[in-house]
Amino acid sequence: MKQTILVTGGAGYIGSHTVLELLQHNYRVVVIDKQCSFQIDHPQVTYFQCDIADSSLIKTICLRYAITGVVHCAAFIEVGASVADPARYYQNNVIKTLQLLDTLRACSIDRLVFSSSAAVYGTPEKVPIPETHPCNPISPYGKTKQMVEQILADYYTAYGMRSMSLRYFNAAGAYPEYHLGERHEPETHLIPRVLEAALNGQRCTIFGNDYPTPDGTCIRDYVHVRDIARAHRLALEYLHDNAVCNALNLGSTTGLSVLEIIDQVQEVTQRTIALDFRPRRAGDPAYLIADTRQAKTVLQWEPEYSDKKAIVSSAYAFKREPIFQNNYQNHFLRDKNWIP
Ligand code: UFG
Repeated sequence: MKQTILVTGGAGYIGSHTVLELLQHNYRVVVIDKQCSFQIDHPQVTYFQCDIADSSLIKTICLRYAITGVVHCAAFIEVGASVADPARYYQNNVIKTLQLLDTLRACSIDRLVFSSSAAVYGTPEKVPIPETHPCNPISPYGKTKQMVEQILADYYTAYGMRSMSLRYFNAAGAYPEYHLGERHEPETHLIPRVLEAALNGQRCTIFGNDYPTPDGTCIRDYVHVRDIARAHRLALEYLHDNAVCNALNLGSTTGLSVLEIIDQVQEVTQRTIALDFRPRRAGDPAYLIADTRQAKTVLQWEPEYSDKKAIVSSAYAFKREPIFQNNYQNHFLRDKNWIP
């Protein structure tokens, strides 16, 4: 029988790609999300507009749909906003996750894949960064991810709740064939911002060119969102067969500078981008590169789409979609009054 997976934040950037990956592998999916972003029109997926702290609705969904595993992507994701208003981040990312976990426990669901982040490491002592590297997050956002990982470790020991935390490095790219891609409001991430500058003829801001790197700009590890989505499915399948609580890095293991990304965008778009050099952005480490050997060992996961041209080309194709340009807003098919 097909299993049914609950994806929180399944209408968001990484969540929607994960939903597609699960559908493509014959899972049934139920999504809960607060926002109307990306929905996939498919008979095996059902969307609910719902908060992760809405325990009574989630219990009803879990029982009605016989949910066997959960991918928990719903979270606030902006580092800068978490510094400005940490209370909002701790409330949403930690307190509400605790409520969700207790709802899942009440429904005897013991398989959870958690969206974590390279932000748990803070400023790295060395790169590439293995999972054994000390976790010293420097932003409230990173701390919320570390706290949930710690809670999951305790829940495994005490209640046997199996979990895999996936520490994404720089998620990037899109799946334009399915109208899925990156669209945050506001958009702070480098690749969509450089693409916007190229398409609109605006100047592209570079935060710092005095880092101790070959061209002075920050080096990041960009990993394609489709590779990240596949890792979620593999993690769910691993947890089905193995009782563990674990954390794995997801990256491409290749470092690219801000200027290298801009060059790639210029090549793909065939446009010249004017540059605007600004001071460093607070909290940006010079290098973030993943050591992903554990993900390969545990999940047999390796990135397939994470070369820079594939990432930038797919992100560009998505940016040119009518769905993006018309500011298309989808409507949830189901609200909380609808339970079959
Ligand atoms: N950058 C610019 N100009 C821009 C936007 C970004 O120069 O307009 C630079 C940043 O300063 C940074 C690099 O591009 O050096 C990448 O920045 P992003 O904002 O795209 O990504 P981050 O590396 O800041 O953030 C990523 C994830 C976060 C996570 C963090 C871990 O998106 O969720 O890594 O440190 F928390």
